[in-house]
Parts: sequence; structure tokens; C-alpha cells
Amino acid sequence: MTMIGVIGGSGLYQIDGLEGASWVKVSTPWGKPSDEILVGRLHGTPMAFLPRHGRGHVHAPSDINYRANIDALKRLGCTDLVAVSAVGSLREDYRPGDFVLVDQFIDRTFARPKSFFGAGCVAHVGFSDPTCPRLSAACATAVQGVTLHRGATYLAMEGPQFSTRAESRLYRSWGADVIGMTAMPEAKLAREAELCYASIAMVTDYDCWHGDHAAVDVAQVIATLTANAGHARDMVARLPSLLDQRAACTHGCDHALTHAIMTAPDRR
Ligand code: ADE
Repeated sequence: MTMIGVIGGSGLYQIDGLEGASWVKVSTPWGKPSDEILVGRLHGTPMAFLPRHGRGHVHAPSDINYRANIDALKRLGCTDLVAVSAVGSLREDYRPGDFVLVDQFIDRTFARPKSFFGAGCVAHVGFSDPTCPRLSAACATAVQGVTLHRGATYLAMEGPQFSTRAESRLYRSWGADVIGMTAMPEAKLAREAELCYASIAMVTDYDCWHGDHAAVDVAQVIATLTANAGHARDMVARLPSLLDQRAACTHGCDHALTHAIMTAPDRR
């Protein structure tokens, strides 16, 4: 049965209209998730919502317990994770207010635990195509009334400071389309947890490479997010009817570990 987990980023701390909604505390062996998780049903489909930074935006990107977040959503029964996040644009034609369906990542983060595996059990999951095409297609259909760019590459930086102009230009030269601070290691952990993962990014600014726009600041990010949060909430509300019948994932997200574990069974 499909259960949709939504990880809300900056500007998305709540979703509307969940029947029987309650905030539940989930314990994990990895520590505490960012917050309690809002569970309920939307048009009959079980949903879970986790504010990535916590209600009130209390966790910085480097301090988010990504392993606990993914594990908690898995424990609740989620099969599909839709990650919503705020990003800066690294290209002229991705304008503040636009939505972006991400399908590739460049991971430049360096101060976060990135795997559920390691000591005692070594695994290497395939990650050439880090997002689920089936779930991403549903998200693309669910985004309405706003410009949506597809097939984008997301550069994940450590932060919390924004980039220098030289870094911003460098990332553009690498072919990155958007920049943010949270998609990694979240997408990697979702794959290790055998969950389908899709990434919808909301463009809030032009970072600092663009000569005609002031360098990004938080006021600008919040103003654009506030104007756009309604589109993100509407997208979430449309997802259940697009995903209600769950077939096995055609992309193999739900059995990503089948050929990934190196450690011998008697040594795990
Ligand atoms: N989130 C929103 N805008 C951003 C930017 N320019 N850089 C990194 N993260 C962001």
C-alpha cells in the first residue's frame, strides 16, 4: 500500500486537510528526527509530513539528523518520499518563484553522516539515477499553476553561509542548475532505505553569480517562499490521486539493497 511521506523544507512546515491528523513522536536508533511527524489520510491515502528544519525552523542544514528522518518515515510505513526544498538558481531561465524537478545531484557536503551502513555491514547502493522516475512524474503532474523545469541538477553545499561568487560561478561551469543545502545526504539515505524519492525545489533567488540581481539574503528567500508555499501545498494535495494504486517500483528503488551488501552474511 502506498504511503506518501512529504519532507517539507524552508517555508513548508505544515500540510492542510489531513483527515485524522496527529503529530506522532518516532524513536529511531539514529537519534531524534527533526520533529514529530504529522500523520493522517488525504483522500484515503496514508500520508506523513516531516518539517525538515523542525517547526519554527530550529535545525541548520548541517545539524539535521537525516538518518533519523529517513528511518522514522520508513518505520511509519512510507513507501514514497517527496522532498520539497528551497534553492538558489544557477541559470538565467530558472526564475525566483519557479519550481524545479531535480533528477541529479552533485554532493559537496562534508560534515554529515551519509550512510546507514559502515561498521560491521558494508553496502554500496547504485545511485546513478538518484530519483524515482515514477514518483517524479507524479510530482510533475501535481505541480500546477506555476512554471516547472524538469531534469535539473542540484548542487548540495554544506552551508550555512551562502556561496562566494567564485563558488557560484564554479558550480555553474559544472552544469549545476540549482543550489541548496539539504538534498544530500537525504536522497542517498532514501535509496539505502529502499524508498522512492523525488525532489521538488522552489527557486527563491539567483544565488550571487547574476550581475543584475542582488546577492541572496534570507529576507529574499522568505519573501519568495511565502508567495509560493500555496503551490507546494496544492501539489501535495494532488499527489494521493496520482499515486493511489501502488505497483512495484519500475525503477527498482524498493529493492536497492538486493545487490548492494558486500559483507558476508555470517559477518553482518
Ligand atoms: N537555498 C535557497 N537559496 C539558496 C542559495 N542561493 N544557496 C544555497 N541554498 C539556498
